[in-house]
Amino acid sequence: MSNWGNRVAAELKNLNPKNLGRVGVLLGGRSAEREISLLSGNGVLQALLAKGVDAHAFDPGLQNPAEIGHHGFDRIFIALHGRFGEDGTIQGLLELLEIPYTGSRVLASAMAIDKVATKQIWLSNQLATPRFDLLRSNSDWKKIVDNLGLPLFVKPAHEGSSLGLSRVNQLEELPAAYELAAKFDSAILVEECIVGAELTCPIVGEGDGAEALPVIRIVPPLAGYDFHHKYFSNETQYLCPTGFDQALEKEVQTLALAAYRSLGCRTWGRADVMLDEKNGNKPYLLEMNTSPGMTSHSLVPMAAKAAGVNYDDLVLWLLLQTLKTNPVAGARK
Ligand SMILES: Nc1ncnc2c1ncn2[C@@H]1O[C@H](COP(=O)(O)OP(=O)(O)O)[C@@H](O)[C@H]1O
Ligand SMILES: [Mg+2]
Repeated sequence: MSNWGNRVAAELKNLNPKNLGRVGVLLGGRSAEREISLLSGNGVLQALLAKGVDAHAFDPGLQNPAEIGHHGFDRIFIALHGRFGEDGTIQGLLELLEIPYTGSRVLASAMAIDKVATKQIWLSNQLATPRFDLLRSNSDWKKIVDNLGLPLFVKPAHEGSSLGLSRVNQLEELPAAYELAAKFDSAILVEECIVGAELTCPIVGEGDGAEALPVIRIVPPLAGYDFHHKYFSNETQYLCPTGFDQALEKEVQTLALAAYRSLGCRTWGRADVMLDEKNGNKPYLLEMNTSPGMTSHSLVPMAAKAAGVNYDDLVLWLLLQTLKTNPVAGARK
């Protein structure tokens, strides 16, 4: 079993679930990823109930978020994705209410949801991420193609789950890709395409205690990796171990861990990474997810399982981290 697997077993061994008190599971919400969050949150809720935790669902998409403080929650598991759930807003509310919660705090959440801010932090820490530019309606499309090459990826800076994202193969397609992304966001980024294998690496813990879980390789069907395939297709294959040599897996884990620490993340996160096959499989960071999916298809539960930790134990351990909360909001340890 991995280091982390042993830590989880030790920390859960003498836990009395009743000591966690009354637990709120935030699920659903108002973002474009509402449906995924309902699947994540219901999985989390069932796991906590199975463990004997006094857990209750709260849906800030249906219920007034301002009422979270009226439910007597002692701690909260955030199973929301995207805006108003993963972006620092609900985290700020919980800080004000002084209710401990899972996941990154305000600053790290807000930075990680912003792909541009994230890349700037990574670049300033010499962590590899694809070259990029910002797009505007009057951008010089040709200059962008001359600078970043083709194909390109165009994406909204703040949306997740591949919404509004396009792969652009020719200069003529770039304005339409911009228009599509602009439906979702006012800040649009364009990135050079990294051609090679796609990996994802979950990180758990905080500061010096943070650890990388096993790396997963995502092998999409030929049609590409879009919103549908990411969550509902049986054609996407997930390989863990990845099939690459251990030195490369270790390199990806080291990069993902540095990426997590540089943003000041807490509890858990998941870095999306592409390997540049033309450049000796050099890994490049795409983004950091600070409230990763917890559905039955999801990647963090898959990596945890490979590390010897089942879904229910993973959920309970994540919740348990709220007992060790660092009192300084946003502190980078
Ligand atoms: N620069 C890039 N090079 C190659 N593939 C990319 C690039 N950017 C995005 N992709 C592909 O698009 C997917 C979604 O992009 P990502 O930045 O992770 O946004 P999100 O998951 O928030 O929609 C990635 O998993 C990858 O398959
Ligand atoms: Mg992603």
